[in-house]
Amino acid sequence: MIVIASDHAGLKLKGQIMEHLQERGLAYRDLGTYTSESCHYPDYAAAAARAVAKGEYEKGILVCGTGIGMSIAANKIHGVRCAHCSDVFSAKMCRAHNDANMLALGERVVGAGLAMEIVDAFLDAEFLGGRHADRVKMMMELEKE
Ligand code: RB5
Repeated sequence: MIVIASDHAGLKLKGQIMEHLQERGLAYRDLGTYTSESCHYPDYAAAAARAVAKGEYEKGILVCGTGIGMSIAANKIHGVRCAHCSDVFSAKMCRAHNDANMLALGERVVGAGLAMEIVDAFLDAEFLGGRHADRVKMMMELEKE
């Protein structure tokens, strides 16, 4: 199960991603925002990130204007590894090497076609484990500081 959220600047792309997930037969929950009224991206990033950190959802997708604010906010929540991606290679590698559990996209940065390829790469790539697991563990240890 996937959790998805956006602010007003990511609303349109979030809708397109939800359609794409539906077409792929993947279940998701939309935590908002639901209108184009201006809102605060940290609220939506935090709600989705907390749900992922609690294990309520396996993965999360966040969309704002750039993807930057959403990713910074989500990464404040312990247990979250949110990758801000604007290309397919990074989306694949953030799963393979970093075991990212959240993806952040910028509606003002990537077109819908590229965004769907990024989403697919993120959802379909597997974490490779091994030496990468040691490094992920090291990253998570930093949360104790
Ligand atoms: C909203 O104008 C914009 O700042 C937000 O969507 C995002 O790009 C922040 O990082």
